[in-house]
Amino acid sequence: MGKIMEDKNFFDGMNHPANAEDLTDAEKKHIPVISSSDSVKPGEPFEVSVTVGSIPHVMEPAHHIQWIELYANEEILGKVSLTPGFTKATTTLTVVMETTGIITLKAIERCNVHGLWENTKRIIAG
Ligand SMILES: [Fe+2]
Repeated sequence: MGKIMEDKNFFDGMNHPANAEDLTDAEKKHIPVISSSDSVKPGEPFEVSVTVGSIPHVMEPAHHIQWIELYANEEILGKVSLTPGFTKATTTLTVVMETTGIITLKAIERCNVHGLWENTKRIIAG
C-alpha cells in the first residue's frame, strides 16, 4: 500500500482555493466532492463516491480529469483512470474500515490542464 507522503513533488503541485468560503467557478469545477455516510461501523462495507466537482468538469480529449484517488488516513484505497469522451469525472468505491475513531477521507484528482486538486471529509467509525 502506498503512502501519500512518499513523493514530495506530488504535493508541491497541489492546488487549493484562494478563499474556501467563496469558491470561483474554476475551483468549483476541480475540487472533488466526497459523498459517504458520516458514521460507519468497523467491518461493514460502505460506499464512498467522489465527483469532480460541485460544477461538472468537462471530459474532452483536450481538457479532462485524468484520474481520481481516494485515501483514508493517508492510506490509498483506490485509484481510477478515466478516459475522456467515454466517462464522467466520478467514481464510487466500496470501502471497509476495521478501525474505530475519526477517519479522514481524502480525494485527489488530476486535470490535464489545471493539475492536482484535493478535498477531505471526516467520518466516524464506531
Ligand atoms: Fe480543468
